[in-house]
Parts: sequence; structure tokens; C-alpha cells
Amino acid sequence: MPPLPLPDPPHVALYEPEIPPNAGNIARLCGATGTPLHLIGRLGFSFHHPKAKRAVMDYWEDVDYTHHVAWADFEQAVAGRRLWMLTTKAERTLWDADFAPGDVLLFGPESRGLPADLLARDPARCLRIPMREGARSLNLATAAGIALYEAIRQLTANTG
Ligand SMILES: C[S@@+](CC[C@H](N)C(=O)[O-])C[C@H]1O[C@@H](n2cnc3c(N)ncnc32)[C@H](O)[C@@H]1O
Repeated sequence: MPPLPLPDPPHVALYEPEIPPNAGNIARLCGATGTPLHLIGRLGFSFHHPKAKRAVMDYWEDVDYTHHVAWADFEQAVAGRRLWMLTTKAERTLWDADFAPGDVLLFGPESRGLPADLLARDPARCLRIPMREGARSLNLATAAGIALYEAIRQLTANTG
């Protein structure tokens, strides 16, 4: 397996993340793997509030992250990349995805998931991580870890 980070790594994007420790956990994941991180829209934490800073800041210095205030700014930043939307409501599972270098993995907010109109734009790019029947969802940071490492596994499977 080639060393991390990959030359054109997958990206992780969080749409309106609400819970500071989840964002901190994902920042740590992205820092450890060399994964660019996009934060989109209203955040449930502030980089300036001392308490939130303590909760989330430890790992941010190692992370290549960008806060896009508007969705349009995010779209512009990732133009030309393929966007995969992680949702409990998808027909396709993560195991059906065929990841390419530079793909973007988009995750929704903890309380409500990704907006339905966004998911409806491209159902073929919506992915579900399998769970037992009746389970509501995974923790956001857990879902991000599973999906990101699956993308990395695929992108490194046939190299070195
Ligand atoms: C706590 S979940 C949101 C739950 C929300 N009530 C829903 O039904 O989408 C936060 C985010 O984690 C990701 N996630 C959690 N479980 C998932 C699963 N089984 N498959 C795909 N994504 C998942 C999704 O991106 C989701 O928007």
C-alpha cells in the first residue's frame, strides 16, 4: 500500500455539522489520513468560543480544512469532483460504490441528515452504510470513518 496521504486523496465534507466532538473526531480522522475537510454552512460550534475551541481544536492544526459559508462556495471549490452523499435513505450501499481519486464524501447534520432535495438530485450517488433492520443511523463520525477508509481501501487496493 502506498503511504498516506494519497496523491489525490478523497475529500470529506460536513453539511452544517452540529456537535463539536463529532467535528473534532472527524478533524482527527482527516488529519491522520491527509484528507481535505470541507465544512459547509452554519456550524454548531465556533472556532472562537473558548469552550468549543477546547473541545474541537486539538486536531485542527493538522487538518487541511475550509469553511464554505454558502453551498455555492462549496460547489465551486469541488467543481469537477464527484460527490457521494452518505445517507440512511439510499438504495445503494457503500459496497456498491466505485471510488475514484479526488471523490468527495458528503455527510449530513446529526439531527436531520442531508436535505431531501439534495439527495433527490442524484440518487445514484447516494450511499447507505448497511445496518440491521430498525437501526436509525450511525454516529456521524463513525459513518465518516467507515466511508473514508473504504474509499482509501479501494484507491490503494491495486497499488504497490
Ligand atoms: C446521525 S446521522 C443523521 C440521522 C438523520 N436522522 C437521518 O436519518 O439521516 C448523521 C449523518 O451520518 C451519516 N450516516 C449515519 N448513518 C449512516 C448510514 N447507515 N449510512 C450512510 N450514512 C450514514 C449521514 O451522512 C447522516 O446525515
